[in-house]
Amino acid sequence: MALVKLYLGVLLCAPLALAAGIAEVIAQTPELSTLNSILTTDHPDLLAELNATAGTFFAPSNDALNAFISAADPNQLTAEVLKDLVNYHLSPTTLSAADLGQAGGKIAETKLSDPAFANLGGPANVVYASAYGSTGQDAAPGPLKVYSGIGGESTVTNPDIQYDGGLMHVIDRVLDFPQSCTTTMQAKSLTTLLDAVKRTNYADTIDLPAKFTCLAPTNEAIQGAGIDISALSDQQVLDALKYHSIPGEVDYSTVLEDGKEYPTLLGPTVKVHKKDGQLYFNDVAVQQGNIITNNGVAHVLSGVLISPTDAWATTTAVDTATTI
Ligand SMILES: *[C@@H]1O[C@H](CO)[C@@H](O)[C@H](O)[C@H]1NC(C)=O
Repeated sequence: MALVKLYLGVLLCAPLALAAGIAEVIAQTPELSTLNSILTTDHPDLLAELNATAGTFFAPSNDALNAFISAADPNQLTAEVLKDLVNYHLSPTTLSAADLGQAGGKIAETKLSDPAFANLGGPANVVYASAYGSTGQDAAPGPLKVYSGIGGESTVTNPDIQYDGGLMHVIDRVLDFPQSCTTTMQAKSLTTLLDAVKRTNYADTIDLPAKFTCLAPTNEAIQGAGIDISALSDQQVLDALKYHSIPGEVDYSTVLEDGKEYPTLLGPTVKVHKKDGQLYFNDVAVQQGNIITNNGVAHVLSGVLISPTDAWATTTAVDTATTI
């Protein structure tokens, strides 16, 4: 009898000791106590859903969540927003820090399929993970980061925590939702470009299609190229904007091929180069790559793209790419 009891005890206890859903691992990880209390106290349904999923979870640390909460409007943190937020931090595939930190970086699909944040013609939106900078081209690996919307960068501070369904990585900053290209320009203070977009009523052209790649020169890039937009006609501005637009595809750096040409909305192509630790369109280096937008991706440029037919070329053509 005693033996049978012992046998049963071992049988029952062994699986219990092994079972560690996300819920249990979050509860056991001190740096996730804020996340744990939000989920267990206020959102048990969300916790149950999270606990039932498999894949990769980017878990915001206590500092990350406290900073996020203090910056947010509490009225806007509805159950629906929190659910979207959890979904954006979840990838359906199990990706280790080594997978995410591979040379060139890694696009990871998430579970964020709310059409407000995922207008990609079907699939859920993504994050870009990289230990090689925002373009994935750095010569040597640095900290593993997760790049999200509006230029947000989160560093993985505690990688590869195992749970039943996959892996969890603690991050030091809550991921930002992907926004439209023009909202992204605003967030990145690309005001000269944004003024040009407004003047030509160009916003819908880049914000509404289901797949789009925005190339976005900084204010300094436009000024450095000697371009005075107020001196150009509306048509000239529109043509210049179209040469910075790649319609119909989402060209993350991982998709772009060295030496390949990509047709712009204007017609002429831009040619991609990956060299000297940088990502280039024509001879212009990307200053910040892979900003995830709701309908694709934006790359911030350190210079201006001059198309063969572009009126901008008639102003002083300074090669700003070499000044960074
Ligand atoms: C989470 O899932 C595990 C199985 O992976 C289960 O043992 C545990 O009871 C679940 N916890 C909650 C809070 O739902």
